[in-house]
Amino acid sequence: MSSVIAMINQKGGVGKTTTTVNLAAALAAIGKSVLVLDLDPQGNATTGFGISKGRGLRSSYGVLLGLIDPMDVVLETYVSGLFIISSTIDLSAAEVELFSQKDRDSKLKQSISKLEYDYVLIDCPPGFGLININALNASNKIIIPLQCEFYALEGLAQLFTTIQSVRNTINRNLIISGILLTMYDQRNSLSSMVADDVRAHFKNLVFNTVIPRNVKISEASSYGKPIILYDVKSKGAISYIELAREFLSRELQRVDSLHVEY
Ligand SMILES: Nc1ncnc2c1ncn2[C@@H]1O[C@H](COP(=O)(O)OP(=O)(O)OP(=O)(O)O)[C@@H](O)[C@H]1O
Ligand SMILES: [Mg+2]
Repeated sequence: MSSVIAMINQKGGVGKTTTTVNLAAALAAIGKSVLVLDLDPQGNATTGFGISKGRGLRSSYGVLLGLIDPMDVVLETYVSGLFIISSTIDLSAAEVELFSQKDRDSKLKQSISKLEYDYVLIDCPPGFGLININALNASNKIIIPLQCEFYALEGLAQLFTTIQSVRNTINRNLIISGILLTMYDQRNSLSSMVADDVRAHFKNLVFNTVIPRNVKISEASSYGKPIILYDVKSKGAISYIELAREFLSRELQRVDSLHVEY
């Protein structure tokens, strides 16, 4: 069985996809077998690996609805040890299709239960729809990317309430691997104020690693490459390799606190 990690924050544009792609690549570079499951109809993780979006059932859509064996739709990436199940625009209809189904919260969990990778990283769409409830139910852990900007903490209380309610109902064992500060801008004092504030509230739940705002990171995704293949010496690449190391060290300890005050 794989360890399944959901990259989740209902806020858009906070670095979920960037972290999925780059953490996955860094873990693969360290020698882990990794599958990226692109559950966002936007398909940015798919194109982030230079892969065209899938169509119909031969994609994460078919996997989410339990209509296809995930192993039949796994694609290789050019990163050794790193595989992907691509997204398709059809996913945007999945919420409606799931809605009428009896086991609508656990479709994905059943579907991916037999995968055998070290890690499955799920790139979640923004929002709190049934796709994300399925992702939270199918996951062992979550990573919460948080952009270092003024409204960073807005909506976080709601996210924690959702996580707690998932724990109380469908996935008792769900734990938070960490909150990840992203797009940290050294030249902007607001970034350090937000970072200090988040650390004061969430303490050791926050990864020590901080992802800097680095133009190479967005350039890399426009070339369909993870940052470590685009510019391994960039600050962005170094920070994602550091994150992979810290993530693995957290695997050995239970960092999550079930009663975080916020
Ligand atoms: N560390 C960074 N430095 C510079 N640009 C970044 C960084 N992280 C992300 N970006 C850019 O910010 C934008 C939003 O990032 P990303 O797509 O990862 O967010 P997201 O949370 O997945 O968004 P959505 O909710 O729409 O799926 C992208 O254009 C991405 O290239
Ligand atoms: Mg995204």
